[in-house]
Amino acid sequence: MYILGMESSCDETSAAVVEMADGVRRIRSNIIASQIETHRLYGGVVPEIASRAHIEAVTRITEEALAAAGVSLREIGAVAVTSHPGLIGALLVGVNFAKSLAYANRIPLIAVNHIHAHVAAAYLSVPDLKPPFLALVVSGGHTAFYHVTDDTTYLEIGGTRDDAAGEAFDKLGRVIGLPYPGGAALDQLAYEGDKTAVPLPTPALSGDEIALSFSGIKTAALNYLNGAAQKGTPVNRADVAASYTARIVEAIVKKTDLALRQSGLPTLVLAGGVAANSHLRTALESLCRRRGVHLAMPERSLCGDNGAMVAAAGYFEYLKGNFANTSLNASALDDPAAAV
Ligand code: KG4
Ligand code: ZN
Repeated sequence: MYILGMESSCDETSAAVVEMADGVRRIRSNIIASQIETHRLYGGVVPEIASRAHIEAVTRITEEALAAAGVSLREIGAVAVTSHPGLIGALLVGVNFAKSLAYANRIPLIAVNHIHAHVAAAYLSVPDLKPPFLALVVSGGHTAFYHVTDDTTYLEIGGTRDDAAGEAFDKLGRVIGLPYPGGAALDQLAYEGDKTAVPLPTPALSGDEIALSFSGIKTAALNYLNGAAQKGTPVNRADVAASYTARIVEAIVKKTDLALRQSGLPTLVLAGGVAANSHLRTALESLCRRRGVHLAMPERSLCGDNGAMVAAAGYFEYLKGNFANTSLNASALDDPAAAV
């Protein structure tokens, strides 16, 4: 069947047509309109501007996705849309568009959790992937571990106590003058520096808890940079990037190792925008090799927000008969049901 996947939870408007069936996981189109250039001016996503940009892009992007796939609306078996979590105004654009499209064309509608969608991107890159597995979602808004018991059931078993890893990367990127969002540029700069040059705390909490905290390393890096500026001593940006990246990657690897040992799961899925980080990918590859664990990662182009991952997650909800209707609402929360 063909699923139209729609994503508008942050600063990417995306629509994709994905063909899903038993043994078939094929991306027919995956159109992404990024707002990065718009938000760069402000050094971060401005929610009000993001919502307006989604409104301007959503119809065109959907038409483009159908045309590029060579699939008509009549052939679409379900419309899957990210309904939570994310920026509420941004989410509402995608949800209302998908709702209207599904209603007017009598197509089943499916609500998708954005975090599950990031994980579902791995199903598109690793066709034989099957739960149970441990999923590590590392993005601009989340850093968390999930025990995935079946394709739609996610049990959170740990994660960050404060900031997300992507947020920490972007913050350092901003203060050392890299273009927004700093994550990808920092990834490259880290190769040019000495990862032992700058003393920074590790973001892994001690003990047997699957817990991370990125606020300390963020503050320590800012203090280091401010201190150097006050003393008038030069700063090697590459050394800061390398040390900061190394400590974050070490902490994530340490807690992933713990989560794998505690859960005994045979497979690790690494997903989310920060899953594109080459240092993290390499470090987790070597951890999984050491532990004899199968590592499944979406290809780098599917790590950031996109409609194909939403379609993939939607397919599994479809198989379970989890349909939404015209009363579907968006929510900024990770788990809107738990808040009721
Ligand atoms: O998953 P995503 O597209 O959006 C959210 O759901 O948050 O993640 C975006 C985050 C940003 O913080 C961005 O800087 C980060 O992913 N990112 C990276 C890399 N590519 C994107 N962080 C580190 N290294 C990268 N190569
Ligand atoms: Zn995301």
